[in-house]
Amino acid sequence: MARRIAVGNHKGGSGKTSATRNFAAALAEHGKRVLLIDLDPQANLSRRVGAKFDPSKPTPTTAEVIKSAIEGVAAQAIKPCGWPEPYASRIDVISSRFDLENRISEAGVVGAVLRLEQALAGADDEHDFTLIDCPPSLGHLTQLALAASDWSLAIFEPEFDGVDGALRLKEFVEKDSNRKALGNPDLRMIGYIVNRVRTNMGAHDDQIAALPETFGADQVWTPYIPERAADKDASDSEVPLRLVGTTAAKDQAALWATHAKRLIDLDGAA
Ligand SMILES: Nc1ncnc2c1ncn2[C@@H]1O[C@H](COP(=O)(O)OP(=O)(O)OP(=O)(O)O)[C@@H](O)[C@H]1O
Ligand SMILES: [Mg+2]
Repeated sequence: MARRIAVGNHKGGSGKTSATRNFAAALAEHGKRVLLIDLDPQANLSRRVGAKFDPSKPTPTTAEVIKSAIEGVAAQAIKPCGWPEPYASRIDVISSRFDLENRISEAGVVGAVLRLEQALAGADDEHDFTLIDCPPSLGHLTQLALAASDWSLAIFEPEFDGVDGALRLKEFVEKDSNRKALGNPDLRMIGYIVNRVRTNMGAHDDQIAALPETFGADQVWTPYIPERAADKDASDSEVPLRLVGTTAAKDQAALWATHAKRLIDLDGAA
């Protein structure tokens, strides 16, 4: 059964989708099988892994999976990512599109928050990790992910608003009554990943210095991820970092390989 992880932050543009993509690539490079779920109506992850919704081949998307919520129905929405081998046979995707917005209005329906969990039952048994890319919100869509996940990870820029957004995710997850309402008492935060670090910014250094006290020293993952054009290049060209081809991209991929190894070790120890 897959270990399910919701990648989130209440702050937009903090690197959630990049982290999800980079984790998937690095886990696949470690030989792991990954299911990606795009739970953002922006569908940035779907595009960046070459699995954008294609009306000429209309595989069901996250919206239909959640709407149906029949046990295991998510299996019908799984397709391989659009990257070459070895990624294609190791990374699967459930894509989203803008109509995922329509699920948000169901937030008040009794039990609606459990719909992704129900739909996933058995669908990711053959995967090692299921990574869920959340929108910049703590609302219904992110709550669907949290209800279905074992763990959550926050990613943020070392700036006031980014750290604040990660802190709101932490507080949400760590509140007993929230986990109870999500039907997921064992959900926990496993880490805080610092992204887009700029070495020439004193403000970043100040924020980073305060992180151990805010999140707990063992919860702030190192290495920190620097800001590199390689990340944007990978996003624009819809390829994993290693296929961008530059030394900077390979260096960036090596940092994610370290984070992926930590995830694999945590999974093994759990
Ligand atoms: N370390 C990095 N260096 C350079 N660019 C980065 C880095 N991480 C992310 N980016 C770029 O920053 C932009 C925002 O990142 P991303 O889309 O991953 O954030 P997000 O948190 O998923 O945003 P949203 O809240 O809209 O879903 C993207 O163009 C991405 O390619
Ligand atoms: Mg995103």
